[in-house]
Amino acid sequence: MNEKYMLNFDTRELFQEEDEYLVLGSGIAGLYTALKAAAAGGSVTVLTKQGTMDTGTDKAQGGIAVAFGDFDSPALHQEDTLVAGAGLCDVEAVGVLVREGPGRVRELIGMGAVFDSDGHGFSLTREGAHSRRRILHASGDATGAEIQRVLTLQTSYNKKIKVHEDHYVVDLLVRDNTCYGVLAFDRASGTCKVFRARVVVLATGGLGGLYEHNTNPEIATGDGIAIAFRAGAEVMDMEFVQFHPTALNLPGAPRFLISEAVRGEGGYLRNAKGQRFMPKYHELAELAPRDIVARAILKEMAITGSNQVFLDITHLSPKVIELRFPNISMTCARYNLDINVDPIPVAPAAHYMMGGVKTNLVGETSIKGLYACGECSCPGVHGANRLASNSLLDGLVFGGRIVEAAREFLKGYQPKRHEFACDWLLNPPEVDFAALRHELVVMMDQKVGPIRNSSGLKEALDFFEQWRSLQQNSVATADGMEVKNMLQTGELVAEAALARSESRGGHYRVDYPEPVKLWQKHIIFRR
Ligand code: SIN
Repeated sequence: MNEKYMLNFDTRELFQEEDEYLVLGSGIAGLYTALKAAAAGGSVTVLTKQGTMDTGTDKAQGGIAVAFGDFDSPALHQEDTLVAGAGLCDVEAVGVLVREGPGRVRELIGMGAVFDSDGHGFSLTREGAHSRRRILHASGDATGAEIQRVLTLQTSYNKKIKVHEDHYVVDLLVRDNTCYGVLAFDRASGTCKVFRARVVVLATGGLGGLYEHNTNPEIATGDGIAIAFRAGAEVMDMEFVQFHPTALNLPGAPRFLISEAVRGEGGYLRNAKGQRFMPKYHELAELAPRDIVARAILKEMAITGSNQVFLDITHLSPKVIELRFPNISMTCARYNLDINVDPIPVAPAAHYMMGGVKTNLVGETSIKGLYACGECSCPGVHGANRLASNSLLDGLVFGGRIVEAAREFLKGYQPKRHEFACDWLLNPPEVDFAALRHELVVMMDQKVGPIRNSSGLKEALDFFEQWRSLQQNSVATADGMEVKNMLQTGELVAEAALARSESRGGHYRVDYPEPVKLWQKHIIFRR
């Protein structure tokens, strides 16, 4: 049995393409890396599982953190990032992020990204756990969309880059711990294809979609982590999922993100009785680190016996609201909520994955020729809890570094051509994948959510055990493959969460509510 693959195939029978670089994913990390690779002279193919703009980047609101302010510096940015990371950040990785970040952001501006200004310079906002105003934003609260627009446009102009949409990556083609390309499923034609490359870059985004309540686009199902793990790559820090404190909590509405910048501009959190509660939980009140705010909200819900708290900005001037939060304002209005006069009902929701495919500081994974950047990767830069608005910056900085390292790797490259096949998986099973997916995401919210305990995590692992035999079956649809990947990734999260018998950053255990010095270390899994 070879559970290294998701379906039976033989590369000799399939359509094949070959490039120097293959980038999987089209968010900030993927497209920036693709542009850098093309600039370095390589031919590049980008595969993306839906449309190019269907990414986590496109949905990012608050902004991109960068030490541009007069009273700011990379050293201060570093300090805040390390504090948020709760003792688990790789200090060197954080140093790279904060020092190289400003240059990468200037490059983005050079490509055409327009960030909001206040008449004197960039308008910088504050978010949770930042000691300075250092968050650049665009069109008020649509920062990610502006970055996605610019990178998509640049990519479309670039003759060296081909983008294939609706291509779902099934598995990596790895032999002797070297990656030679991928097997992908073209949803339009319903066929599998082989994409060969010397350098394969995973930039597939996060895994919020493993949870029923999340702020992510629907593509965020942790595929990159699952396929890398199946192929034998090391994954790290899988227990650290960040739950954003304030997602819209209205019956019938998606958990739309209500940006942290809303609190940064002076919004108050109030419980169901209308009382402001954050000052009693943390000296930074509404701007405390995300995990603290998220747990405080859940506690207030329990105390008041309500499933709601409210984010109140009715005291801000309508001009500020219009200028800073046009997107949030418009979305809430669709649900008959006027944020100028109505407090916004909010609740925590899964938002960001700190862990992922383990990399070094230049994006190399434990498999030769396989690199990773952005949310699916883990260079250790976010530790146990990511500082607000450091994620877009991470995609840029570490994406850019990959191409610098890959150029060296390519100098000594000895081309080899292998064929790959799998014919021993069992026939497609009779499984209602839509129902299984629903069961999985509800279970993840309940047992592997912002508040965890040993018995819940064991129940989660029993759930995964029950579906293990599915890994021995060939699956013929993209939806089925996605659910298989979700099972794989969810199990890694639950297993790491059970192993870590302490609370730290985004990982909170009621049965071990404090951090433990002995646990100031990482959990690394390898298949
Ligand atoms: C937000 O706007 O609150 C999200 C920013 C982030 O996740 O860093």
